[in-house]
Amino acid sequence: MVLKVSGLSKSYIQGDGTFLDVLKGISFNLNASEKVAVMGESGSGKTTFLNCVAGLDRFNSGKVLLLDKDISSLNDKDLGSLRNRDLGFVFQFHYLLKDFSVKENIMMPCLIAGYTHSKAEELALEVLEKIRLLHKAHSTPRQLSGGEQQRAAIARALVMKPALLVMDEPTGNLDEHLSDDIISAVIKLCKENKTSILMATHNKKIAEQMDKILVLKEGGLWTQK
Ligand SMILES: Nc1ncnc2c1ncn2[C@@H]1O[C@H](COP(=O)(O)OP(=O)(O)OP(=O)(O)O)[C@@H](O)[C@H]1O
Ligand SMILES: [Mg+2]
Repeated sequence: MVLKVSGLSKSYIQGDGTFLDVLKGISFNLNASEKVAVMGESGSGKTTFLNCVAGLDRFNSGKVLLLDKDISSLNDKDLGSLRNRDLGFVFQFHYLLKDFSVKENIMMPCLIAGYTHSKAEELALEVLEKIRLLHKAHSTPRQLSGGEQQRAAIARALVMKPALLVMDEPTGNLDEHLSDDIISAVIKLCKENKTSILMATHNKKIAEQMDKILVLKEGGLWTQK
């Protein structure tokens, strides 16, 4: 089991001092190589859910096991290392480092993990080729189109061949044709590496390409497919 979530609850304190219960005791399992879409209205809590399971945000109660490790019990260093090696995260907006080339951006997780420069470069070039962005390896993010930037962000998330890829609206800003193209490449790469996918999306067509579709509503997670 890649991810095992039980009784996950998360509230925010709002501007007026009242609590907003976004996640109300969610339980959810994700198997190796499984692909799951999370849908739901804007404000239903998709980003909150992904951030909690990826260890980017704290939650109020419940348990998240990522590769059998209880993420709440890890210190910052161990959580950082788990995220670096076993989890790729793609945000709605790419967050590539603008002063580095595409290749350097993608090498970054490998260097953080302690790989040699040449090994990091080899892995970066390999994933860039697979996502068809090798021709832009030496460009900076600013010199890329929106779709290319998103490809680069996905390449960075996958360069370590993580057990889990979490994506929050990865194609939210792209046109339909480009989205389909990018998602096909991601699915292919994840299949090769046996990487599971957990993806929030508003796009029904993309969600249909996953094995399962879940819907977040009123703090609960419901199975749609
Ligand atoms: N830091 C915060 N403090 C207070 N409330 C927050 C905070 N972050 C999110 N919220 C609220 O929590 C709810 C869930 O937000 P979230 O971003 O998870 O929704 P979402 O399903 O990802 O929406 P979208 O589809 O628009 O991205 C929303 O009502 C939002 O206003
Ligand atoms: Mg969101």
